[in-house]
Amino acid sequence: MAEIISSHFYGKSLCDLFMGGASISIKAKSMNMRVIGNDIAYRSYLIGEALIKNQKEKITEEDVYSLFVPTENNHLIEQNFSPEVFTPKFAQFLDKGFANAKKRTAPKKQLLELALVKLILSTRQFGGFQVGKQDNEMIANNQERELLELASEARGKKIKNILSHPLPTLMRIKDQINSSIFDNGQVNEIYQMDAFDMLERLKRENRQVDTLYLDSPYKNSVLYSAHYRILDQILEQKLEVEIEDKTFNKADALDSFEKLFTLANSVSNKWIISLGYNPDSDGGIKGEELLAVVQKFKPAEIFYLDHIWAINNLSGKSQSRNVEYLIVTK
Ligand SMILES: C[S@@+](CC[C@H](N)C(=O)[O-])C[C@H]1O[C@@H](n2cnc3c(N)ncnc32)[C@H](O)[C@@H]1O
Repeated sequence: MAEIISSHFYGKSLCDLFMGGASISIKAKSMNMRVIGNDIAYRSYLIGEALIKNQKEKITEEDVYSLFVPTENNHLIEQNFSPEVFTPKFAQFLDKGFANAKKRTAPKKQLLELALVKLILSTRQFGGFQVGKQDNEMIANNQERELLELASEARGKKIKNILSHPLPTLMRIKDQINSSIFDNGQVNEIYQMDAFDMLERLKRENRQVDTLYLDSPYKNSVLYSAHYRILDQILEQKLEVEIEDKTFNKADALDSFEKLFTLANSVSNKWIISLGYNPDSDGGIKGEELLAVVQKFKPAEIFYLDHIWAINNLSGKSQSRNVEYLIVTK
């Protein structure tokens, strides 16, 4: 997917306005473009700090051990998400680990937070937090063996990660993260802002980017802040987390796009917009409709991707009828 999208990159700089997991920013960085990454959520911002802005700092073995050092913490995870989401033992380690990571400064702080997020996700099926209560109950009742016998191969792997000591998994995660850290010789920037505010800022500062990549959420798609709520609460170390990420999930998303394009017009000439439409759920926006709005600003063409997302759908349901497309300005 990143290959197809990057074949449309133009020039020496790219702004990834809805960065998410940062796959497109990483691709642009590897092509030696100057990257400006942005996302409204800290869960994405930290990835950008760790992997895009950071050019050389890596996670050492000592850093991993430092997560295990006993330290004062607020027991947020243990008190609120255990045993429903995490086993008590795992929750206690996570409380300690995040408290230790938070003591560090950027980019070490974000590198260690990223390692802990990856550790958490290694224990979650479909990367979600909705399931698992029953598994934790069986673990509490010493029924690990029955649990593993019942589980599918994929789920069994996640359960084994819940049951095992986090150190070896974290060491593997460390190597995996370190292998994606490199210097591309550019000053890359990362922001945690609303997309409109970010474009306003670039406009105010009279800055231009060669390529603007827009991969927003869309109507009836999973709301990230709902899906990742527990992760966001853990990362922000509080239960009241409000992430204003609903703009493009609403029925009037097309109007929001038009407003976004009005701002984008002063910041970049080359836009790559990635979106989808699902006729079953009437989710997203039909390609032709969005193309018509883009063409009010610039000549553009649409590319339909006959790519079937197997796991893109965070709920794990089949999305075979989802139509993914790219709109690229000329
Ligand atoms: C579809 S994902 C991006 C996926 C990304 N391209 C990748 O490769 O992982 C959409 C992202 O937009 C972010 N987002 C939603 N509303 C936003 C807004 N108003 N401003 C900035 N980011 C927003 C969400 O937090 C989410 O991470």
